Amino acid sequence: MLAIIGGTGLSQLELFERVEVKAVPTVYAKLPVAVLCLRHERREVLFLPRHGEGHVLPPHSINYRANIQALKLLGTTHIIAINAVGGIHVELGPGHFAVPDQIIDYTSGRSATFFDDEQSAVHHIDFTQPYDESLRQRLLLACGEQVAIEGDDVRVLAGGVYGCTDGPRLETAAEVRRLKRDGCDMVGMTGMPEAALAREQELAYASLALSVNWAAGLGSEAITMEKIHQVLDRGMNTVRSVLQRLATQEFN
Ligand code: HPA
Repeated sequence: MLAIIGGTGLSQLELFERVEVKAVPTVYAKLPVAVLCLRHERREVLFLPRHGEGHVLPPHSINYRANIQALKLLGTTHIIAINAVGGIHVELGPGHFAVPDQIIDYTSGRSATFFDDEQSAVHHIDFTQPYDESLRQRLLLACGEQVAIEGDDVRVLAGGVYGCTDGPRLETAAEVRRLKRDGCDMVGMTGMPEAALAREQELAYASLALSVNWAAGLGSEAITMEKIHQVLDRGMNTVRSVLQRLATQEFN
């Protein structure tokens, strides 16, 4: 079954039929995780707004382990994550998309593994390729079909390195210059540990990243929440259409 993890600007999927809200207890959170069960053309899709309903949780306070465990318990096999990012690559100006193929993790202090139980054997997942290649290709195909309809206004970069910072503040210009030297094409705050936790649970995981601003120091204007929201409003319409295309497909 396909699950969608919604990011900033995507806390609802109005175009899907709402079946029920499941409250899923996990060992990682006091409160159950609320997962929306949606239906589209007779197929069920799960939807989990990462920042909580009403966008209340900043990136460093999200309970990534509880979220991934809840999706696993509901029978998820594939996850499409939606991530708002700052663009570093020249092709990733505000309003353009990427389906990243690599990650550099700059976060610290987040609960980043399910394998921290002292009773069980030490386990190291292979994370050479952090995203599932076959799911990335399916996502790129759906993006390509949508972009062909929308025209040249929207581009999708078929790869790229996602640098994940802690936030919630945005970066300094020097930090972005360093991210660029490191090889990052985009910077966001929510890609990790989500991707690694999905791999630990053997879930296929891919990300659709929307650039909502030029990363700090790369654009000619100040980064404001107002401008970010303008880009988000438009971009998330494209995201919804891409997700509708994917939701009609079989995932198992
Ligand atoms: N930096 C980090 N995370 C982000 C940005 C950014 O510029 N824009 C959206 N999420």
